[in-house]
Amino acid sequence: MTESAATPQTTSTDAPGTDLSGVRVALIGAGNMGGPVARTFLSAGVSAENLRIVNSTPASSERAAAEWGATAAASRAEALEGAGVVVLGVKPYQILDLASEIREELPAGAVVISLAAGTTLAAIQQALPEGQPVERAMPNTPISVGEGAVGLMRGSAVDDQQHELVHALFSRAGVAVDITEEQVHAFIGAAGSLSAFVFVILEAMSDEAVRLGLTRNLADSLVQQTVRGAATMLLESGMHAAVAKNGVSSPGGTTVEGIAALERAGVRSGVAAAMATAAGKSREMTTD
Ligand SMILES: NC(=O)c1ccc[n+]([C@@H]2O[C@H](COP(=O)([O-])OP(=O)(O)OC[C@H]3O[C@@H](n4cnc5c(N)ncnc54)[C@H](OP(=O)(O)O)[C@@H]3O)[C@@H](O)[C@H]2O)c1
Repeated sequence: MTESAATPQTTSTDAPGTDLSGVRVALIGAGNMGGPVARTFLSAGVSAENLRIVNSTPASSERAAAEWGATAAASRAEALEGAGVVVLGVKPYQILDLASEIREELPAGAVVISLAAGTTLAAIQQALPEGQPVERAMPNTPISVGEGAVGLMRGSAVDDQQHELVHALFSRAGVAVDITEEQVHAFIGAAGSLSAFVFVILEAMSDEAVRLGLTRNLADSLVQQTVRGAATMLLESGMHAAVAKNGVSSPGGTTVEGIAALERAGVRSGVAAAMATAAGKSREMTTD
């Protein structure tokens, strides 16, 4: 069931741009994840007119199109007409039914991108016409600000040009990497679900800063800026986290005392457990 790209590829926001202004995209399901995907495609160069959204009702399509700066389609057929790329952004339990419903309306050669966790390429390919190119994309929500991560899984019918198109569409996501379907479980632990774990930790840090006497606004901005700064410092310098941590740990000082308390509280094992549990859940949810 595992399918991998012939030539694994990584795209970051620094990659040279491809002209996407003529690419027509049908986005079926612009919710919590489909919406940020729309924003990413628009910032990569897809025109608002060519990015057509269809949700479960016309009112919902209009709302999502207004929110994300795209165009609402009056119907699924209208969204699919002439589409070169079709994104399936519905819930995992809906994805195979949706694939079966659109199989007759899909333009031949349109690249189908599924965002669904737990549904394999093989299962989606089986629900679609034979030879339809299919990719899976596993994004996280920080792609909405161009600072996320997307794991791309390439189906067997996708040619190099189509795969490059998918990379170009996600070129403003932050980082887009080729992964195998076997790696997607680890990817969910290390990126897909990880942003939520970071939000929990940020909330805890902010709450404690308030308990220590700072106002909520000041606490939030100090914590958020410090976490962003720490990550940017590592990204830009290539320094390992352990080296950076040692650099702020003076003998007998405040930081090393705090780190000892962090270790006694089991933060490291808690983080590992959260990531391993998310990866395990992904594996458990996966059906062919
Ligand atoms: N959330 C994440 O962080 C995340 C991360 C990676 C992957 N994913 C994947 O992204 C997919 C969507 O998850 P989500 O969190 O974005 O869910 P969501 O917020 O519930 O969005 C689902 C969207 O699908 C639309 N929809 C439902 N039934 C439809 C139909 N019959 N025709 C057209 N549109 C329909 C909904 O429109 P209405 O609002 O009109 O019902 C809504 O816009 C899932 O497969 C999930 O595995 C999510």
